[in-house]
Amino acid sequence: MTSPVAPFPAARLRRLRKSPALRAMVRETTLAPADFIWPVFVMEGCDAEEPIPSMPGVSRLTVDRIAAAAREAHGLGIPAICIFPYTPLAQRTEDCAMAWSMDNIANQAIRAVKDAVPGMAVMTDIALDPYNASGQDGFVADGEIVNDRTVDALVKMALAQATSGADILGPSDMMDGRIGAIRQALESEGHQWVTILSYSAKYASAFYGPFRDAVGASAALKGDKSTYQMDPANADEALRLVARDLAEGADMVMVKPGMPYLDICRRVKDSFGVPTFAYQVSGEYAMLRAAAGNGWLDGDKTMLESLLAFKRAGCDGILTYFAPAAARLLAT
Ligand code: PBG
Repeated sequence: MTSPVAPFPAARLRRLRKSPALRAMVRETTLAPADFIWPVFVMEGCDAEEPIPSMPGVSRLTVDRIAAAAREAHGLGIPAICIFPYTPLAQRTEDCAMAWSMDNIANQAIRAVKDAVPGMAVMTDIALDPYNASGQDGFVADGEIVNDRTVDALVKMALAQATSGADILGPSDMMDGRIGAIRQALESEGHQWVTILSYSAKYASAFYGPFRDAVGASAALKGDKSTYQMDPANADEALRLVARDLAEGADMVMVKPGMPYLDICRRVKDSFGVPTFAYQVSGEYAMLRAAAGNGWLDGDKTMLESLLAFKRAGCDGILTYFAPAAARLLAT
């Protein structure tokens, strides 16, 4: 793109930055509460919460408190909430059977939010890790992550979530073939209006550390996830994954983590023009909060700037733990 800019002094690009009014007129990107999906952590019990030390300002909430939090978020204009379970140790087994139980804590939370705030879209996470003794996203056999048998389990998990009332399913497991299998099952079981937001370009990232604390998976995880999550060195591969997931029936796609991967967001949006989301993950949140907590950065300004950057990079929305705080700031 060449800019029709005459040489100085005819062109004074500072003219358009002269006043708030002029800056508002030529602003290319905007940020609004409707851009956010709010990830929350649900735990067993009632009327209680537990702060997560590596994520200042974020707590695990009991189901009743999740419903109340969803109502508040909805009031702030946030359209969707994404539920992650903190599973009791006894429910983390080798066969991962709790993953597709209608009574697991995540499915309880889906029903509670849909009851309390029917207008709020509820998103889920599909992967076996919260229910797996090994902390891996798939079944483990002979030290390897088994693909196809895991996909069968993910399909059962998806159906339990859809039956519980989920609006948006988020397969985050990175197994091959899972989007097609889930889409087919949704179609044949009467859930044809349930959308899939695929974690298509999910990297094997060290930025997930605080999340694994939040869901109690840090100690459990044996080995790493690099045989299924992407190599942070790759970009073309992200486009292959997005193309594949769209062909298999994904409605929307995600890039994860967010800030270090804005180049991927831009390439995905430019290549496919489909609804593209980024996940500003737990480590990104922790970094900004830690720096702000120490007085090294302005917390509010860096929060909004980081979120605006996703929009500028082509994202339609952002999964962010900042959602309620950012929505409150945007309202003032
Ligand atoms: C689990 C899952 C992870 C995150 C979302 N879903 C962790 C992982 O892949 O180990 C990370 C989110 C975050 O760091 O905020 N499949």
